[in-house]
Amino acid sequence: MSEEKKNNQPKKVEEEIFIPEEPKFSLDDIILSDAVKNQILDVANYAENSFRVFELWGFKTTHKFSRRIGINLYGLPGTGKTMAAHAIAKNLGRKILVVNYADIESKFVGETPKNIRKAFEAAKKSNSILFFDEADAILSKRVTNMTQAVDVSVNQTRSVMLMLMNEFQDFIIFATNFIENFDPAFMRRISVHVKFELPDEECRKKIWAMYIPKELPHNIDLDEIAKKYDGISGSDISNAMLNSAFKAARLRMDSLDKKLVFEAVENILAGKKANLGVN
Ligand SMILES: Nc1ncnc2c1ncn2[C@@H]1O[C@H](COP(=O)(O)OP(=O)(O)OP(=O)(O)O)[C@@H](O)[C@H]1O
Ligand SMILES: [Mg+2]
Repeated sequence: MSEEKKNNQPKKVEEEIFIPEEPKFSLDDIILSDAVKNQILDVANYAENSFRVFELWGFKTTHKFSRRIGINLYGLPGTGKTMAAHAIAKNLGRKILVVNYADIESKFVGETPKNIRKAFEAAKKSNSILFFDEADAILSKRVTNMTQAVDVSVNQTRSVMLMLMNEFQDFIIFATNFIENFDPAFMRRISVHVKFELPDEECRKKIWAMYIPKELPHNIDLDEIAKKYDGISGSDISNAMLNSAFKAARLRMDSLDKKLVFEAVENILAGKKANLGVN
């Protein structure tokens, strides 16, 4: 039985749940196209200078609506969005405060907005970069034909979020797979959108190289495997390497045969296809 049901109390999220952390990744850890990398560097630079220009130098009064307070990282799963959010914070020498929808969601009307407010407060207090991962859950369009209570709650959450974004003086990062669901009011406030694509052959080669440990005995040909499998993400490559290594270990092999890696990739691709209903 869940905590909630047991004591029949609304889920209370204490401020302590929003703990800023040291960024886990730097820009060097992510293989991205030059175009995307440059966009990210631009954003980091903007965030770095935003406080000085808008707050210290007073542009917040003369250029009220020019201030871009948010960046949105969007694109397919496993392409490095969450990593990039960490890397931006690291680049700025700041901690990151990660907010997942599960951390703030409550089925009780009024609780979700309260939790969002706590996240903003915690970020402000600790001077960390606020990062809403899986942001579509919070920033999505108003859902109609729901029960009235849920509808009220969704609207409350949206308007509180908008208000807090307007008040917040710092930079916010969002990440999502479903940009289509974003509410236009949020879209207006987030004016930097960085699209994450699946890696091309050149990037795939670098990602494969990155996830093959130098201690590992193997016969993988980087050019061959980067060419052979298209349509896979960085996350797929990382998983395929680990899965096939475990298989080789289980089979008591002394080295990792590339056939096992191929199998692992094909397995992942088949799973993805099935998930999309195309099998
Ligand atoms: N561009 C990349 N370069 C290096 N590693 C990557 C890259 N993309 C993904 N990975 C690997 O995949 C893992 C998952 O990436 P990440 O969590 O950043 O993806 P995401 O885009 O946030 O996915 P989701 O949309 O599912 O949240 C990373 O921890 C890393 O191991
Ligand atoms: Mg992510």
